[in-house]
Amino acid sequence: MAELKGALIGCGFFAINQMHAWQDVEGASIVAICDRDPERLKLVGDQFGIERRYTDAAAMFADGGFDFVDIATTVASHRALVEMAASHKIPAICQKPFAKTLSDAKAMVEACAQAGVPLMVHENFRWQTPIQAVKHALQSGAIGEPFWGRFSFRSGYDVFSGQPYLAEGERFIIEDLGIHTLDIARFILGDVSSLTARTKRVNPKIKGEDVATILLDHESGATSIVDVSYASKLATEPFPETLIELDGTKGSIRLSQGYRLEVCGPDGVTISDASPPLLSWASRPWHNIQESVLAIQQHWTDRLANGGETSTSGADNLKTLALVEAAYESAANGKRVDIGALLR
Ligand SMILES: NC(=O)c1ccc[n+]([C@@H]2O[C@H](COP(=O)([O-])OP(=O)(O)OC[C@H]3O[C@@H](n4cnc5c(N)ncnc54)[C@H](O)[C@@H]3O)[C@@H](O)[C@H]2O)c1
Repeated sequence: MAELKGALIGCGFFAINQMHAWQDVEGASIVAICDRDPERLKLVGDQFGIERRYTDAAAMFADGGFDFVDIATTVASHRALVEMAASHKIPAICQKPFAKTLSDAKAMVEACAQAGVPLMVHENFRWQTPIQAVKHALQSGAIGEPFWGRFSFRSGYDVFSGQPYLAEGERFIIEDLGIHTLDIARFILGDVSSLTARTKRVNPKIKGEDVATILLDHESGATSIVDVSYASKLATEPFPETLIELDGTKGSIRLSQGYRLEVCGPDGVTISDASPPLLSWASRPWHNIQESVLAIQQHWTDRLANGGETSTSGADNLKTLALVEAAYESAANGKRVDIGALLR
């Protein structure tokens, strides 16, 4: 089958990972790039040898010549760019956060459905090797039915040097990082019926909250905690590891710092190393995230070539974005928020 041709919009900080990963993906490559900042456009175009370069996405769509678009811009532009892709009947990948509001995200899903084109949110954390290992251990039945979980990301890493815009928004950790952790909680324990959240801002130099604790009621009856922090000063910095605890009717799973996976079941305890591989272009400590970028882009390519909905389709991601909106609502009013009501 002919290789799929892609176009990438937004040549910023994270797009470098996406461009590296596209070079490793089997069955697709990037043929055109776009950034409204000519300097970023030149830097990425030169680094990855892409000749077709645009400062205006509308001009790139008008010229065409690609099978899908990879939108790697920040959230403010997502709705307009996804709708532009839909109007040209071009399948689209959109970075997280999917949209500024749940109603924008619903409109984006609707636009792509009407156009009959696939839409995937680049929600890559569930594709990390250690997270997949936890999912497989749970699916093996080793711990029985899970009734409790904890999904934890606590760090003191300086994310603001690479992504200065993160210090400026009214919202920070739930929208930027917690969104991944909430998605992992859904991926592992299933959809959520209601939640309660508390937030704090510890770092006085940023505008938004940098600590959040969220209690989730899953539709299965399981309860879980998603706790995220960029204000935790730890002896060994765990960035960017998500730590997981699961208790089930027959045993337990613990994914602890250093990618140590412990599965305790009726037949005994298995300890394994769930470390992600270090790809040739990756660098520690980001390699865990970088490998998941390759995995999600390969998944997209395979589904686009062979059919079938992606794991993190736009429709699926509405259920993660609803948790983000609910968490801010609950943190503001102190009350438990019904997720079904937000999604209707
Ligand atoms: N999935 C992950 O693991 C992960 C990690 C980091 C960042 N992100 C997400 O990636 C997105 C980008 O983040 P970043 O840190 O690379 O941001 P960035 O500001 O470094 O890069 C964004 C780029 O998009 C360009 N751009 C913005 N609007 C545009 C438009 N309408 N047309 C053309 N170009 C446009 C900007 O000029 C900039 O070069 C964010 O949504 C962020 O949340 C995801």
